[in-house]
Amino acid sequence: MQIPTGIENVIYLDNAATVYPKPAEIMDRMLDMYKKYGVNPGRSGFDLCLVGGELIAATRAQLTRFFNGTDPNRLCFAHNASDALNILIHGLVNEGDHVVSTVLEHNSVIRPLNHLAKDNVITRDFVPCGADCRLDPDEFKRHLRKNTRLAVVNHGSNVIGTIQPLQEIGRLCRERDILLVVDTAQTAGVAPIDMQAMHIDALAFTGHKSLLGPTGIGGLYVREGVTVKITRSGGTGVKSAYPFHLEEYPYRLEVGTSNTLGIIGLHLAQEYLAKKGVAAIYAHEMQLLARLQEAFLRIDGVTVHGATGLEDRLPVVSVTVRGRDPADVGSLLDVDHGIATRTGLQCAPLIHEHMGTAPRGTVRFSIGPANTEQDVDAAIEALTAIAASAPRS
Ligand SMILES: Cc1ncc(COP(=O)(O)O)c(C=O)c1O
Repeated sequence: MQIPTGIENVIYLDNAATVYPKPAEIMDRMLDMYKKYGVNPGRSGFDLCLVGGELIAATRAQLTRFFNGTDPNRLCFAHNASDALNILIHGLVNEGDHVVSTVLEHNSVIRPLNHLAKDNVITRDFVPCGADCRLDPDEFKRHLRKNTRLAVVNHGSNVIGTIQPLQEIGRLCRERDILLVVDTAQTAGVAPIDMQAMHIDALAFTGHKSLLGPTGIGGLYVREGVTVKITRSGGTGVKSAYPFHLEEYPYRLEVGTSNTLGIIGLHLAQEYLAKKGVAAIYAHEMQLLARLQEAFLRIDGVTVHGATGLEDRLPVVSVTVRGRDPADVGSLLDVDHGIATRTGLQCAPLIHEHMGTAPRGTVRFSIGPANTEQDVDAAIEALTAIAASAPRS
């Protein structure tokens, strides 16, 4: 394939899709280490294989600490958050259960729940949020039923960036023996996550966003005392004579050869995050968001959707432009201004219905660690020009 040159010079404001570019010190070392240690770990006793296994164990330990879990073996790797959420949702429900979720969810939650409901396995409700796109714990409580077994809740919205009051939701669930699964796809790496303080029973994470790893790696953590059913089986590298999948964690929820490259990436990224500080990265991104949002709020013809405060918020802002389709705004930003954003429903249709932005959606600007004030100023200038030239009806 012939790859066009110069495309990497884009002003990248699509970090909620994946953080780009990743710090070179993570990516370069990841490739070096994979070249050296990229054998199939956990399968044999030769030294290279043992080192690969140790790297994986060390990464389980890092991520367990990162989420304030207690047992590194309960940190299981998966392809991404979607994969992990499927493992958790299918592994935690039984026939006849009611599941409560929210309108803030990504399709990686909405679709598995809809499939289970369509097959008459569960019933489910998506709790509406307030005008500020935050969950009201009382509203959440009103949707709980006697047979509610599971709650699946988005920690941070990929559309409008609101962070949900998990501690309170977690307390409500724990008091009623309802299992709480949290989707941390947008928050892990920028917002603090404490499984114990937030009463989280299991969480799903993705490696390629603010955790700063490559694509293709993610995972989940399940707290002790919670049993996730085995829904997939295959090779584990150990106890090969046993005819069924292994019951013990982490094997229980992992099948086949591990993504060693991705796990090494996460390992190095954890070291990087520890050195830079999650809070410092978040502060940098939020400072840029404040500048961007404040300017967007002043542009005639531009509407900022969802939340406009900076508290409990991720560096994401969703807008529409009067007289222009969001897809056209995205194309103009790209073609005329060299700015990459995401348009449409961003895989989260229910929150757009809630905000009245369905079916065309919004234009989403999302900030990452590599963005600068110049990037933000270019976006402000571009959106101002696009709004000013919009047809007036
Ligand atoms: C809130 C949320 N949940 C889940 C996902 C799915 O993540 P992945 O595509 O890495 O599986 C995303 C991806 O954008 C997301 O924003």
